[in-house]
Amino acid sequence: MPSDARKQVVADSAYALDELTLKLSMARGLDEVMEVVRRLARPLVRADGVTFVLRDNGMCHYADEDAISPLWKGQRFPMESCISGWAMLHGQTVVIEDIYADARIPHAAYRPTFVKSLAMVPVRQEDPIGAIGAYWAHRHVPSEGDLYALQRIANSAAVAMTNVALFQSLIAAKEEAERAKDAIILALASLAETRDYDTGDHIRRTQQYVRVLAEACLARGHGEDELAGTIELLIKSAPLHDIGKVGIPDSILLKAGPLDEAEFTVMKTHAELGRRAIAGAEEHLGTSSPLLRLAQEIAHTHHERWDGAGYPCGLKGADIPLSGRIMAVADVYDALVSKRRYKPALPHLEAVAIIAAERGHHFDPVLVDVFLEVARDFETIHRYFADG
Ligand SMILES: [Fe+2]
Repeated sequence: MPSDARKQVVADSAYALDELTLKLSMARGLDEVMEVVRRLARPLVRADGVTFVLRDNGMCHYADEDAISPLWKGQRFPMESCISGWAMLHGQTVVIEDIYADARIPHAAYRPTFVKSLAMVPVRQEDPIGAIGAYWAHRHVPSEGDLYALQRIANSAAVAMTNVALFQSLIAAKEEAERAKDAIILALASLAETRDYDTGDHIRRTQQYVRVLAEACLARGHGEDELAGTIELLIKSAPLHDIGKVGIPDSILLKAGPLDEAEFTVMKTHAELGRRAIAGAEEHLGTSSPLLRLAQEIAHTHHERWDGAGYPCGLKGADIPLSGRIMAVADVYDALVSKRRYKPALPHLEAVAIIAAERGHHFDPVLVDVFLEVARDFETIHRYFADG
């Protein structure tokens, strides 16, 4: 080969190797690591086949391959009886020009294949977690350059697999923290609720009503600024809307009859008490939490009314955050259709009529329009999470 052509081949190989290394560094899953090796390794070392072998509980798992005809994809062999196992157990690269002249090769497994020569490189030499094999259909000794390339591929795959494991454990830890947070929120909300209601399903129902109403709003192009990307947070924070009721005395909270003016004044403080409790939690956290910020907003504003006659601040119209307006509809619907110790449950259609009549008075008119379109879903949710 003329020297210019050889230089070009070397440059092309170096470029392909860099590309492979870069792609491996960006892989976020084991499948992705194997896919990069499968797609790019074979042409790089001009082999007729490559395999990606994983060390799996004392077995060599031939997890992936790219070859001119099938090799052993999906099969498992004991570490002691195959050459990838030998490479992993010894932490050494193996080059075999004539596989049928080498006792370490399980000849029966190779006979149905095209393989005459091979090179096997352990992935993570000091403590191998896998191996990459290259195979040729004719007797062949890979060049130093090809072995160097295979070694670099194996090293990059080792780093990528470590990254994948770290990345996945990070995700698992984050998901665990999320689940713990959700559980704590539900536990806190349930504590508040058990003082007020006979069962623990009001918060679960209101959470689902909020989901239905918020998603329906977004689907119809309402409240995009406030809802896009925050619906999950809204749903998660909704259970805390009445957390402030833990600060209301039993004599008022559990009173069977209507509250007098003084008692109602105390009752109304639950909105501010809830906001303060959640703000305290956020302060304790030492960092701003979008979820707790939204929970404060809902706890504080779910008793505001569109016409300005609500509490605690008498906010009016769009000055009331959309989260509070949505929770108001969800909360009132559930109160109407549920039996309480001081009142019977109303039929679904009567509750719908009451909410429709409050369009533009108690409730945001646009939200009432959306509610009327999805009211059947509210009924289904109420039936599904029925009290008792
Ligand atoms: Fe409330």
